[in-house]
Amino acid sequence: MRQAARRATPRRYLMCPPAHFKVTYSINPWMDPAKPVDVPLAIAQWEDLRDRYRALGHTVEELEPRPDLPDMVFAANGATVVDGRVLGASFAYPERQAEAAAHLEWFRAHGFEHVHEPTHINEGEGDFAVTSSYVLAGRGFRASPLSHGEAQEVFGRPVIGLDLIDPRYYHLDTALAVLDDTTDDVMYYPGAFSPGSQAVLKRLFPDALIAEEADAEALGLNAVSDGLHVLLPQAATGLFQPLRDRGYEPIGMDLGELLKGGGSVKCCTQELRTR
Ligand code: ARG
Repeated sequence: MRQAARRATPRRYLMCPPAHFKVTYSINPWMDPAKPVDVPLAIAQWEDLRDRYRALGHTVEELEPRPDLPDMVFAANGATVVDGRVLGASFAYPERQAEAAAHLEWFRAHGFEHVHEPTHINEGEGDFAVTSSYVLAGRGFRASPLSHGEAQEVFGRPVIGLDLIDPRYYHLDTALAVLDDTTDDVMYYPGAFSPGSQAVLKRLFPDALIAEEADAEALGLNAVSDGLHVLLPQAATGLFQPLRDRGYEPIGMDLGELLKGGGSVKCCTQELRTR
């Protein structure tokens, strides 16, 4: 296994506290409205994640949560920002649609000049992942394939469409994580992708870290990396040593309450790529 010298770079993240988090509807297989959610615990777990980012030297901005939008804690879905350019979201399910405007409003109020309101359905970084060479784009459950061309036009970066086939991995960020966005290092779970998309991933990322099913099921691919530290669900135990072998420092997080909504570390974290 190659041992690269990894380096953390300071990041800017947008997060939304789970003050109004609940599971009252089900739009992915993880969501069961019959299961109670412990909101104070969800808040404590979320604050742990936020504080961990800050302790690592990153900037965390906070979006005001809205009582009518229980999934708003999954801030990654609200937009995608690359080179300071913002592509707004348009949600697949009506229950979340109003989150898109809340995000756009935040970007306009915070000095972002290039803000593009989308024509086609895309759920932000849920289905867009940014490496040094590409924007990887999931489709099959949420994002419209037409949003891929739209993203390519807005960002001026090549967009690679990937077909998701397993409903448990309904967003790209539940099946693939970018580990180093300067060298195109990624980890993913092949079983979430169609055979053709698996072949594309193999061709683009021959040295990728390949995750086992048990770690994918713990939502271990829903991870955030700053180039050195990789924050991921602590239950994805099989990923820790492979990450260390590649020179990363894995940090296990417990976001068990938010898992009831079908999300974890990455879903709660939108990266503002303003560098
Ligand atoms: N309940 C949310 C939904 O189904 C969870 C979104 C998780 N976010 C993510 N980036 N995968 O839309």
